[in-house]
Amino acid sequence: MLSEVREVLVQQESTDSRLLAVCELLQKTFPHYAWVGFYLIDKSVNELVLGPFVGEPTEHTRIQFGRGICGQAAERKETFVVQDVSKEYNYLSCSPKVKSEIVVPIFKDGEVVGELDIDSHRLSPFTADDKKMLEDICKILSAHF
Ligand code: SME
Repeated sequence: MLSEVREVLVQQESTDSRLLAVCELLQKTFPHYAWVGFYLIDKSVNELVLGPFVGEPTEHTRIQFGRGICGQAAERKETFVVQDVSKEYNYLSCSPKVKSEIVVPIFKDGEVVGELDIDSHRLSPFTADDKKMLEDICKILSAHF
């Protein structure tokens, strides 16, 4: 998977098109990744701003640090895995179809510069292997921020 990610990255010319290509690759490879997208950091106001994504449009185009799963991952600077979103009180729903979510921060010089966010319509779909793979992808992407 990592070599495929590297391959799509070299084919693209802008950060946005690289991030979109990674979303498309992930969704094509893992059909249970129903929504795959990136949030970028607006440092001036400590908010996440929606970047390239595949899946249904979301109303959550800006998210404050600490709010929802994305905001908590940004604040805590760690991957957040929620296998059942109905059990997470600090959660921003995009669609009633979403059952689970994983959010992986992208770091540059120790700071969070973005996040990879994946929603699934299945309960408990994310394994330790998914987490490791997505964290490795985010390490590769760090160079493009
Ligand atoms: N569910 C997220 C909001 C973003 S959407 O999943 C695209 C959250 O709780 O932060």
